[in-house]
This record gives sequence, C-alpha cells and structure tokens, in this order.
Amino acid sequence: MDRDDAIALLTRNVRDEHLIKHCLATGAILKALAVHWGEDQNLWETIGILHDIDFELIAGDMQQHGIRGAELLLENGVNPDIAGIVQRHNHYLHSGAYEGRLEIALQAADSVSGLIIACALVKGGQLTLVTAKTVAKKSKERAFAAGCDRNRIALIFPLVDPAIFYEIAIQGLLTIREELGLT
Ligand SMILES: [Fe+2]
Repeated sequence: MDRDDAIALLTRNVRDEHLIKHCLATGAILKALAVHWGEDQNLWETIGILHDIDFELIAGDMQQHGIRGAELLLENGVNPDIAGIVQRHNHYLHSGAYEGRLEIALQAADSVSGLIIACALVKGGQLTLVTAKTVAKKSKERAFAAGCDRNRIALIFPLVDPAIFYEIAIQGLLTIREELGLT
C-alpha cells in the first residue's frame, strides 16, 4: 500500500476535511521521523494517514476508536501489524506502555500535528514562519491548542531531543503544506 492507496481508503471512510488534513499531517510527520531514523518511510506514513480512519464511523464512541479502525483495515486487506498499531493508538483504551519507535512516534505525531498547525494559523497560515522554538514556547501555554496532549508528545523525548523532534515535524508538514491549506 502506498500513500495514494492509503488516502483513497481514508477518504472512502472519512468526509470531514479537517480530519483528513489531520491524518495527512500525522502521516507526514511520521514519514519525516522514519527518514530521520532510517525506518520504512512508506509504512510509517501509511499508518499515520490511516490511524483515525474509524473516527466518523464510531460517532463519538471512543470505546470503539481504534477497534473499528483495525476491523476496517483488516476487511480491506491491510497488514494485521498495521491494523494492530491503529487499534492500540487509542491511548484511552491501551493500558500498556507504548513500545518501539513507531508506536511512540504515532502518539507524538498525532498530538504535535495540531499544535504545529495551530502555530501556523496564528501566523496567518504561514507554516514557513513556524520554528522549533515557536512550538516549544507554545507547547508550554496550556490553553493554546489545548486538545493537543503534551504528555503524548513527551513520550518521544527519551528518543529524540524536543527541539529536534519539533524541527523534524515542521519539516515533514512543510512537504505537504499545500494539502494542508498552509503556505
Ligand atoms: Fe489522530
């Protein structure tokens, strides 16, 4: 499965443009992290794009989030390992600690994507003006992009320095800034 296949599967199940952008953003950040670590870029980006595929299907029932997504992916012939990662990414249901770079990176990318996009929006949608320093500063303001869970972002800090992580994430988002409606 490549990026186009993942997007096609996502947009067959998700209508909300905002949510689609969130998924693309999470995928772009995971891809950038995969490049940084020499991991499988295509696999990591695909998981980012697909991670919230059930969000409209579950209609707010977070007890089903991830579970329905994994089912849907399996029905569509997606690799069970990918489906398992999508299932476990719901941190409300997953009781264990996240292990391995990919699952930790998904937690962080899922949460930091909205934070960085919010930073761009306060700069008139100019992502090119957002720096790692901006993100670090804004992440300390609790009320700013309050839905972006700082604790989930911090899971990645033992693996990569915060400033480097923010920089990688910004660079990843820059590669798809047009798709995100940013400049
Ligand atoms: Fe998400």
